[in-house]
Amino acid sequence: MTAKKPLLSVDKLIDDRRTRIIVCCGSGGVGKTTIAAAIGLRAAERGRHVVVLTVDPARRLAQSMGLTALDNTPRPVPGVGANAHEQQANGSEADPPGSMHAMMLDMKRTFDEIVEAHADPDRAAQILANPFYQSLSSSFAGTQEYMAMEKLGQLRRADEWDLIVVDTPPSRSALDFLDAPQRLGRFLDGRLLRLLVAPAKLGGRTGLRVLNAGFGMVTGVITKIIGSQVLRDVQTFVSAMDTMFGGFRERAEYTYRLLRTPGTAFLVIAAPEHDALREASYFVERLERDGMPLAGLVLNRIHKSPAARLSAARSLAAVETLQGLPDGDSSTLAITALRLHAERMRQASAERRLAERFTAAHPLVPVAQIPAQPEDVHDLDGLRLIGAAFSD
Ligand SMILES: Nc1ncnc2c1ncn2[C@@H]1O[C@H](COP(=O)(O)OP(=O)(O)OP(=O)(O)O)[C@@H](O)[C@H]1O
Ligand SMILES: [Mg+2]
Repeated sequence: MTAKKPLLSVDKLIDDRRTRIIVCCGSGGVGKTTIAAAIGLRAAERGRHVVVLTVDPARRLAQSMGLTALDNTPRPVPGVGANAHEQQANGSEADPPGSMHAMMLDMKRTFDEIVEAHADPDRAAQILANPFYQSLSSSFAGTQEYMAMEKLGQLRRADEWDLIVVDTPPSRSALDFLDAPQRLGRFLDGRLLRLLVAPAKLGGRTGLRVLNAGFGMVTGVITKIIGSQVLRDVQTFVSAMDTMFGGFRERAEYTYRLLRTPGTAFLVIAAPEHDALREASYFVERLERDGMPLAGLVLNRIHKSPAARLSAARSLAAVETLQGLPDGDSSTLAITALRLHAERMRQASAERRLAERFTAAHPLVPVAQIPAQPEDVHDLDGLRLIGAAFSD
């Protein structure tokens, strides 16, 4: 007996005005960015005012959404909703068009903006120039996830859009994404950092002398490992950031709470492949454990055949029959087509079995299926084709 899949209607989700945030998460390369952009476009064209927060979109897709600069500012997407010239010219009054903005997340820029907003100009300049800060803000594991959340909080507070669609960075571990705020908080709060910063807080040189006297052994080792310049950078940085610690954690908590409200919908994106679905299971379980509102699974790039009633076995049997005929030449084309068809049917049934296995493990998680397009999706028309599958 096969488990019956509850269906996820992405259109219903985006047409429901109570949906204010949609987060697309999943493992690497499954189509998070594509689905997030397609949802944004579809929602805008169904009358909503949308901003899509993307991470690292492929260049051509970024260009088609008018994203030419990494400046952390939402920009109107040319040719969509209220921005579409033709629509304005035709001026259909009955159905007020929505709008679409898009933004590429630049995590370093977001980090810098927080510093600039929360420190006086001198201190901000001091932090921004600090080498430790520079490497932390652009490379600390988890900062990208954290910054996506930070930006989401900012956009929600700005209250300029009625729907925010969030693309997430590829997380190797399913936990990274939800852990990011706490992890950064823990890092900034960490015992090592507190140890390092405590003497610096006493002020300048005296601080360092106390540090050397009191923690000589420990810091001696640390200095050897990370180098004295880095150690000084860490001390300067952390003491300068000290006044902002509360702010960081408060905002991380705000965003975390925001994510748990019913206005948020998480979509787990997966390809119909064994590994991607296994990771999708982790995501689903983790979201459930954290009480995050999971809307469903989006199975992206599934294969369907237009002639699904002709089974793989029957087409291969037909190939054999054709091969047995004396006039081999004229049937070459038919043989090739039948073989391709058989291959496609096999792939489709393998994908179906994987999807059924997922549903057997998570019977209450609704599933949407998005067909594989013949080519990569790199423009608005490609996104519209993806969006067309949301009506199912
Ligand atoms: N349904 C689809 N049909 C055809 N191609 C697709 C489909 N969905 C996504 N793609 C293509 O797959 C590639 C990866 O998609 P995308 O960048 O959206 O994945 P991602 O999950 O955001 O990746 P990453 O984890 O690296 O951020 C892109 O080239 C995209 O055009
Ligand atoms: Mg992506």
